[in-house]
Amino acid sequence: MSGTLYGVGVGPGDPELMTVKAWRLISSAKVIAYLAANGGESTARGIAAPFIDPDSEEIAIDIPMRVEREPAQAGYDAGSAQIAEQLAKGTDVVFLCEGDPFFYGSFIYIFARLSGTYPIVVVPGVTSLTAAAAELRQPLAERDGIIKVLPATLEEADLRRELQNSQAAAIIKVGRHLPKVKSVLTSLDLMAHATAIEYATQPRQRIRKLEEIADDSLPYFSLIQVNRKP
Ligand SMILES: C[S@@+](CC[C@H](N)C(=O)[O-])C[C@H]1O[C@@H](n2cnc3c(N)ncnc32)[C@H](O)[C@@H]1O
Repeated sequence: MSGTLYGVGVGPGDPELMTVKAWRLISSAKVIAYLAANGGESTARGIAAPFIDPDSEEIAIDIPMRVEREPAQAGYDAGSAQIAEQLAKGTDVVFLCEGDPFFYGSFIYIFARLSGTYPIVVVPGVTSLTAAAAELRQPLAERDGIIKVLPATLEEADLRRELQNSQAAAIIKVGRHLPKVKSVLTSLDLMAHATAIEYATQPRQRIRKLEEIADDSLPYFSLIQVNRKP
């Protein structure tokens, strides 16, 4: 009997925003896996840290973050192989995912590699989208309203087209793409309707109107909520 891989959403930062199921799986896990971008600290592990058994085995999967996709793909291959080794022995593995595993989560790449061979359970988590709306006290959508999620990595023309006819949008993965996002929002006269939130629900959370931000980048863990309603 092979083990089961659990892709567990740990939420956006505040450990109290973790589901009871996530907490139960993490605190009883014998093997914990997570991604370490460029060999650095794992945000997901940091969020789950209070609940991790110090005797559990940890698999830190180093993913080189480059423009070229090959090094990251090789990292996912190697990480999936390490997880598969445990599963093949019959050991369950709990994979920690920041926010929700299937909402732009890197777990998707592990899932794609292992789902044909091993049993996988996905445990949803509170997303940055919903956490940010709560912290901003800005509802996302009501009645027949439409909310769009737009990665700032999109080409400028695509971003403009999507924002042009949107009632509300969350722009994620802002980082160094801030000047492009500002340029699009300015051209659509939406700057006054845009608010940035960094590290939502974490102790270092910061909220600013986009108009007040002079910098040309934001941290990776930030998003911009745009709402045409005042
Ligand atoms: C690869 S996506 C992962 C999303 C995550 N799986 C989720 O459910 O929210 C990373 C992007 O999500 C957004 N994000 C994730 N956590 C955040 C947080 N705590 N505060 C603000 N934005 C966050 C940022 O825009 C970041 O660039």
